[in-house]
Parts: sequence; structure tokens; C-alpha cells
Amino acid sequence: MDSFSTLIRTASHEQHMEAETSTFMSDLLGGRLGVDAYARYTEQLWFMYEALETGAERLTSDPVAGPFIRPELFRLPALERDLAHLRGPHWRAGLSALPATRAYANRVRQCARDWPGGYIAHHYTRYLGDLSGGQIIRDKAEKTWGFAKKGDGVRFYVFEGIPNPAAFKRSYRELLDAVHADDLEKQRIVTECKKAFALNTAVFRALGEEFPLSA
Ligand code: HEM
Repeated sequence: MDSFSTLIRTASHEQHMEAETSTFMSDLLGGRLGVDAYARYTEQLWFMYEALETGAERLTSDPVAGPFIRPELFRLPALERDLAHLRGPHWRAGLSALPATRAYANRVRQCARDWPGGYIAHHYTRYLGDLSGGQIIRDKAEKTWGFAKKGDGVRFYVFEGIPNPAAFKRSYRELLDAVHADDLEKQRIVTECKKAFALNTAVFRALGEEFPLSA
């Protein structure tokens, strides 16, 4: 049988393609949207990571999810610096979650509270993605909107505490392979991972509606 890290990657491959090729992502990466769309997207990320990282604290001693909680992954401080740059010092006052974002954050919070295995699915979907395709998004954002390289505006994509992302991803996959879960629970985690991708895609869809190219 395949290792769990292979299983979860293979099982979510189709959803990954769907997220990657969503209209909003394609337009954003194609340089066809203004910085306002990028800022709105970054605001949505704030709600997602607020749910992931507030939930993380109570999971540090959990036998299943605990090993995954690594402070060097935390994105909330970087997101807050980016938002201060993008929206100004009063960024918090204008912050609002799209309904799709609220649904996503609620699901993450629910898993963090009731189901450590489900939390892992959300953790994997976000952080491993940020360490991978996130680097492509950063490069595009720097070029399209003129942010300083790895500076304010794109700090979310810069993991200061992870100098070697490839090595980190390898050790993360080892954590997945060693997860304390039986086969049935692993299947449930995979299913939740697909759900996590679908929740992301729903946010992209809503952003695409807010920023149609023809506008
Ligand atoms: C345009 C947007 C995206 C691009 C260009 C992109 C690109 C990539 C690339 C190149 C990899 C492979 C890295 C490797 O093999 O080490 C990857 C992996 C990954 N991406 Fe994305 N991605 C995008 C969007 C997303 C989104 C929206 C999510 C989910 C929220 C996501 C989640 C993941 C995950 C979980 C992995 C790790 C797969 C694994 O090795 O287990 N990606 N991405």
C-alpha cells in the first residue's frame, strides 16, 4: 500500500488542478487583476489562518495533530504585516470575510475543536501548498504589483524560519507517514483534504465573481 503522504497527494491531485486553474487564480497569476483583488484575497487568507492558528494552540499536546504544529509555519503575523502594507494602518477596520471564507474558517475551527485528524487535512492543504505553489504566486505578485522581493505585501509567502522548504516538505511527509491513525481514519482525513480543496475553490469562485475581468 502507498504511504499516507503519497495517498493524500494523489487523492487530492484533481482538486489541486481545479484550484490552480480557477478563473480567479489564472487571472491573478496572469497579471490581469489589480492590486485590490490581491489585497481582497490576502484578507480572506487572514480569516483562514486565524482559524488554523488559533486552533493550533490547544492541539500542541494532541497525539495526532500535535507533531504538525510548528511555529515556523505560522502565517498570521506575516499576513498582518502584508495587510498593513496593502490596506494601511487601519486594515482591521475594513476586514471582511466572504461567506465562502466564513464557511471555510468555520470548518477549520470545528476540526480543531472536535477532530484532530480533520485538522491535519486542513493543515496539510494550506501549509504544504504555501510552501510549494505559494512561491510561484509570490514571484508573480512581486512582478505584477511591484512589491519588494520577499518584502511587505508578500511576507505571507516567505517562511523566514524555513530556510530549506524542500527539506521541510520531506520531513512533513514523514510526519504524515507516521500519523497515529488507522486505515479508516486515514481515509477520513483524505476525504477532509478533498473538502479543504473544495472550500478553497469556493473562495476563489466568490473572488472571481467580485473581480470579473470585464468590469
Ligand atoms: C495557482 C496556484 C497554485 C500553483 C501554481 C500551485 C503549484 C504547486 C506545485 C508546483 C506543487 C508541487 C510542489 C512539490 O511537488 O514539491 C504544489 C503542491 C501542493 N499544492 Fe499547490 N499550487 C497552487 C494552488 C494551490 C492551492 C489553492 C492549494 C490548496 C489550498 C494548493 C495545495 C497544494 C498542496 C497541499 C501541495 C502539496 C502536495 C504534496 O506534495 O503532497 N495549491 N502546488
